[in-house]
Amino acid sequence: MDFIDIDAKYIEMEKIRTAADIIKDGGIVAFPTETVYGLGADAFNPLAVARIFEVKKRPSFDPLIVHISDPSDIEILSSDVDERTRRLVEAFWPGPLTVVVKKLEVVPDIVTAGLPTVAIRMPAHAVALELIREAETPLAAPSANPFGYISPSTPEHVKEQIGSDVDLIIDGGRCMIGVESTVIDLTRKDPILLRPGGLPLEEIEDVIGPVKTSRVDPDRPNSPGQLLRHYSPRTQIKIIGEEGFEAIPGKRTGLLAFTPQEEMRSFEVVEVLSKNGDFREAASNLFFCLHRLDKAGLDVIYVEPVPEVGLGRAIMDRLNRAAGIRRE
Ligand code: TXA
Ligand code: MG
Repeated sequence: MDFIDIDAKYIEMEKIRTAADIIKDGGIVAFPTETVYGLGADAFNPLAVARIFEVKKRPSFDPLIVHISDPSDIEILSSDVDERTRRLVEAFWPGPLTVVVKKLEVVPDIVTAGLPTVAIRMPAHAVALELIREAETPLAAPSANPFGYISPSTPEHVKEQIGSDVDLIIDGGRCMIGVESTVIDLTRKDPILLRPGGLPLEEIEDVIGPVKTSRVDPDRPNSPGQLLRHYSPRTQIKIIGEEGFEAIPGKRTGLLAFTPQEEMRSFEVVEVLSKNGDFREAASNLFFCLHRLDKAGLDVIYVEPVPEVGLGRAIMDRLNRAAGIRRE
């Protein structure tokens, strides 16, 4: 799969150099990736990384992904890259795959929240890659949203949510994939899926064989991304079950539909994820549509479930969390 969607001629190198200088001075910059917008700082500058936690109001136990611009830069962060990891990196970087491997001492504890492991990815976005190259350092970057809120897939989302707290937002338009990267733990004998995401599990298993899908223990998450209610809009979310749904008299209800439906007329506001039931299109619209519904002043948002195969797994993971549903 080729995730790079920005033609080199559209890259504003001037702006990227300005952003890179901000990073070098210990600042924080929101930048586009193929998945969602990230909020980046020099991964080797603990003070700059601390500012990210501050802006996100993120609990300090939640570790960040370190973004690199060349697969070989993984060696700067880890000396424990095994054969499986190499094959995954070869197959899917640049792209929406994050690998968790043992970290080297040089990686500051604040980046990994004190864990002996580090999460690494090489994004497939020309702006992100140029920014990392110009900054001459890996970037520690979570999604550029306040903790627990929906991830930003447009620069406007970033601006509305944390715009006044960041040093710069690089406008790269809308993110092509629209859900975060798939996170895989490769530090144990069996690889473990920590977070379903933009790269379908099936494609990973084609390369390294079976991957364990860990069960969520909400009190002791393997990866804090597994926290229940992590991707939540402010409006109540209800996933439509087999019994259908009941409109509540006097309440304003919205619908997030996978594909266009008959029943759509009875809702105040409707957002459709994909006209033809295409998972990629649905994933790329997910946070965008949720943001729109969340701003519509509704009492409740009903959500039509999507089949849990391929990218459907990541979509349902985010929707279940938004609805606060525990999956065990
Ligand atoms: O697509 C993405 O991954 C985006 C873009 C900006 O690259 N980033 C992103 O970062 O979603 P963030 O911080 O919102 O999510 C990082 C996920 C969290 O679930 C975190 O718990 C997990 O990666 N993680 C990071 N380091 C880890 C580690 N050492 N061990 C286990 N999980 C880790
Ligand atoms: Mg996030």
